[in-house]
Amino acid sequence: MPEDSCKDPVILNQWHPLAAVAEVPVGTVVETVLLGIRLSLAVMADGTPAVRRSPAELRDGRPIGTGALGQALPSREAYGYIWASLGTPPVDIFDIPEYREADRRRMNAASIGVHVSAPRAIENFLDMGHFPYVHTDILGAEPHTEVKEYDVEISMERDEILATRCRFFQPMAAATSDGGADVDYVYRVPHPFCAVLYKSSPVDDARRDVIAVFLQPVGQERVRTHMLLCLLDEVNEDKAIKRFQQTIFGQDKPILENQFPKRLPLDPRAETPIRADKSAIAYRRWLSQKGVTYGVIPAAT
Ligand SMILES: [Fe+2]
Repeated sequence: MPEDSCKDPVILNQWHPLAAVAEVPVGTVVETVLLGIRLSLAVMADGTPAVRRSPAELRDGRPIGTGALGQALPSREAYGYIWASLGTPPVDIFDIPEYREADRRRMNAASIGVHVSAPRAIENFLDMGHFPYVHTDILGAEPHTEVKEYDVEISMERDEILATRCRFFQPMAAATSDGGADVDYVYRVPHPFCAVLYKSSPVDDARRDVIAVFLQPVGQERVRTHMLLCLLDEVNEDKAIKRFQQTIFGQDKPILENQFPKRLPLDPRAETPIRADKSAIAYRRWLSQKGVTYGVIPAAT
């Protein structure tokens, strides 16, 4: 067993994303790592994914000996990604109803490796306070630096965190923007390592663009960030839409990799919170309540 293998049953029993289906050619076996375990994945001709543990021993990246494939794992497709579990996953993955709306552009913006824990990356995704400083002149700009009061609830019924009434002035909120606007945000955290953001659509007042981050925990301090876009945009090419999101993420990556400690401290006294951190505080509390230990520094009991 690798030293970094996961012993956290809450995380072992989740579905985790491994790759965008569109980026795995049929008949090709792709190697990846989940929770410290090497996996091989493939997509069958009918679109069904297959995921197995890789043979344990590799030399120069090639299996030694018979090369027999390891144990098959529960796997499925959802939101254009292949998901798998190393434990006993729930029947369903959290719902994103907007994904089924036929007029939306749905794509993986990118799958990017980041040297940070999954919870740190979720917390950064929830944080509006960094917009003017990290995404200057795109998602924020001085002097509009204030994070206004917003609401956060931990829903026991749906087992997710919901932050609503979030508003922020953004010079260039999306590839479809033609100028600055006050943008409404709703954040959902329906999975310990996945978050969904709904933001005002620049082209339709009544609807919201959906951007989700699905984090693949490679190790306790290493992730692959899969970014799902589910947008209202009839103008821009896929390439331009992806480039916009990749630019934003390229600004976040060094910030994420400089986080110290790389694991998220769950002790409420570990880091001094400010008002903008209300959703982060709820997220830490929710992880504590669930008993998550992977990628975090658990609170002392
Ligand atoms: Fe950011």
